[in-house]
Amino acid sequence: FKQSEKILTTEFYKELTQEINKTVHKIKAKPNDLKKREILYNYIKSVAKKIFPDSKIYRYGSIENGFSLTDGDIDICILNKDNFEYTPAECVEILGEKLKNNGIDDIKLLIRARVPIIKMKDNRSGISCDIGFQNRLAIQNTKLINAYSKIDNRFKQMVFISKIFNIYLITIYWSKMKNINEPYMGTLSSYCFILMIIHFLQIRKPPVLPNLQKIYLNNFKEYEYIDGFNVSFFGDINNLHKYWNSENNESLGELIVDFFKYYANDFPYISGVASVRAGGIITKEEKEWTREHQFEINKTNSVKDRYWFCVEDPFELTHNLGRPVDRKSLFKIRGEFLKAVKIINNKNLSGIQVLEKILE
Ligand code: CTP
Ligand code: MG
Repeated sequence: FKQSEKILTTEFYKELTQEINKTVHKIKAKPNDLKKREILYNYIKSVAKKIFPDSKIYRYGSIENGFSLTDGDIDICILNKDNFEYTPAECVEILGEKLKNNGIDDIKLLIRARVPIIKMKDNRSGISCDIGFQNRLAIQNTKLINAYSKIDNRFKQMVFISKIFNIYLITIYWSKMKNINEPYMGTLSSYCFILMIIHFLQIRKPPVLPNLQKIYLNNFKEYEYIDGFNVSFFGDINNLHKYWNSENNESLGELIVDFFKYYANDFPYISGVASVRAGGIITKEEKEWTREHQFEINKTNSVKDRYWFCVEDPFELTHNLGRPVDRKSLFKIRGEFLKAVKIINNKNLSGIQVLEKILE
């Protein structure tokens, strides 16, 4: 017989909301963490400026969009002029050598990656750092995330919770895969989770977040392009009320519960693509992100694209952020969402207890 479902009361959601706020406060980077990162950033900048004096140096990722955890890393992008004499991969080698000579010895140069980067860790501060070149799209998508984060605080809190959830997911993978030599690539990036949350909040009824790209396209005529992609969005959040107003009053607790339910049960994994740009689900078919297409590409130039789980980059429309996921790891990730829902529906657990149980 079917067990009656747990009724989630206002009290339950209230407790859960408080617990989320408490947890986020604990894990969020403190001023002192940021100061330590600032020092390392300035040091790297000074080394880089000596080799590439005409470059512009930017931070992107969590340090720039306010989603840093206490032990968060620094993402740095160096922009040289367009027709620079060295390729990004060569720049990685040149700056990597220089940093090694300057006492950074925990350093890896990923020259053949999709986006070549230096991965380094400063042993004194324990801070990790990724340094890349010419990645204008990453700087721009950081600005987009930053704009969304200014609209509604509930979005920010959800991103922090998703980061702990993701750390937990990655940990269970690694412990399972310990005996396998090659690194297991089935996990999702923080950036992918951020897009999954924006997508969820855009399709909420009424929505918690608007579609900043659509607002721009519908109201303005001059567009900005990077690498051939239209990267325009409405970023003047102080004036957003002229185009969009929030009518959603749900608590953080309600949103987190439904976020887990959505990716456990409702997301159309088989046929759909989460698109922050479109403001909803689009089909794999229309993007040609299908199995047939995947094999077609494999035959010609062995690109290992995977379309088991599809999250479209808001600007680089050919980029699927769910690419690291294969059949097995999707099963596992979705399983963890289902587990979270089960914990939420456990009648013996209060709003205070469920969060801890989900993230333990
Ligand atoms: N990025 C990207 N494409 C990816 C992964 C990342 O363009 N496949 C860019 C995005 O600009 C993102 C940044 O790299 O904001 C950093 O990605 P990530 O480290 O996943 O996110 P953070 O917000 O920095 O989170 P964390 O604190 O976990 O480092
Ligand atoms: Mg980062």
